[in-house]
Amino acid sequence: MGQQTIIKLVDGNLMPQLGIGVWQASNEQVVKAIDTALNVGYRSIDTAAIYHNETGVGKALRESCIPREEVFITTKLWNDRHQDAKTALQESLDRLQLEYIDLFLIHWPVPQQDKYVETWKQFIELKESGLVRSIGVCNFHIEHLQKLFSETGIVPAINQIELHPLMQQRQLHSWNATHHIITESWSPLSRGGKGVFDHPLVESLAIKYDKTPAQIVIRWHLDSGMIAIPKSVTPSRIKENFDVFDFRLEKEDLTIMAGLDIGKRLGPNPDTYNLTVLNLG
Ligand SMILES: NC(=O)c1ccc[n+]([C@@H]2O[C@H](COP(=O)([O-])OP(=O)(O)OC[C@H]3O[C@@H](n4cnc5c(N)ncnc54)[C@H](OP(=O)(O)O)[C@@H]3O)[C@@H](O)[C@H]2O)c1
Repeated sequence: MGQQTIIKLVDGNLMPQLGIGVWQASNEQVVKAIDTALNVGYRSIDTAAIYHNETGVGKALRESCIPREEVFITTKLWNDRHQDAKTALQESLDRLQLEYIDLFLIHWPVPQQDKYVETWKQFIELKESGLVRSIGVCNFHIEHLQKLFSETGIVPAINQIELHPLMQQRQLHSWNATHHIITESWSPLSRGGKGVFDHPLVESLAIKYDKTPAQIVIRWHLDSGMIAIPKSVTPSRIKENFDVFDFRLEKEDLTIMAGLDIGKRLGPNPDTYNLTVLNLG
């Protein structure tokens, strides 16, 4: 297996290009999944307050023999805490039992609340305090990013957005890149690969490179310059998803992958999503 790739963020910090996501995994599942992931070589974990599994992430880290500074931890601020980011971060730190977080993200812009610029100002202070190393956002459209920049002059290091072969978000990705914001893909496998893994174009690339469809899709993210955080609690898939550093997709195959884009959103639209209830179960 080749060496994993590392991305330099606009603030100079380094982030692994491939991590593991833990949405919809219980604390118990997360402890096992992260144990497997760290043993395979993952060094980046994506959680959020709303996932209710930060406790499990922290436990897995403590039980591993890997030094804290070698693992990149991301968590996110939920929609009901936009006014209260500092306290919410401290609560996340307490659940994770960590002294700092590598990346803190505003989970959704919730434009109806219109508080995200104020939240971003708190994030800038949190970065200055050292409690978080890098700050970023999720699900921000160009107009939301422009507003952050025009009012604070500071761009997010990361914009984590829904991005997979069925919705490739080329315009937003390109805008992010122009403004030194790294695009991070959520639901990178289109949530289990429905309509992607069995697509004839992906199947043919899997045969060509002697890899699985999931590995082709993950490689497509990496070769397109995105960070990807595929989620799995299945040990064989956790290993499979990381076994992607011994090949690259040729340019013509990246062009082939572009043909899968049908603009199919699997999650909510950030322009209208305003769920603020924290207790989703
Ligand atoms: N910022 C946001 O608003 C936001 C929104 C959604 C997600 N996220 C983050 O992005 C991460 C990934 O997104 P996601 O969980 O929605 O979807 P995903 O990673 O695209 O897909 C996860 C699903 O694919 C399955 N899977 C994983 N590897 C596979 C493989 N090699 N072959 C076949 N099936 C495979 C998993 O099953 P098993 O687990 O059963 O193996 C799970 O059902 C999340 O965990 C979360 O950290 C962020």
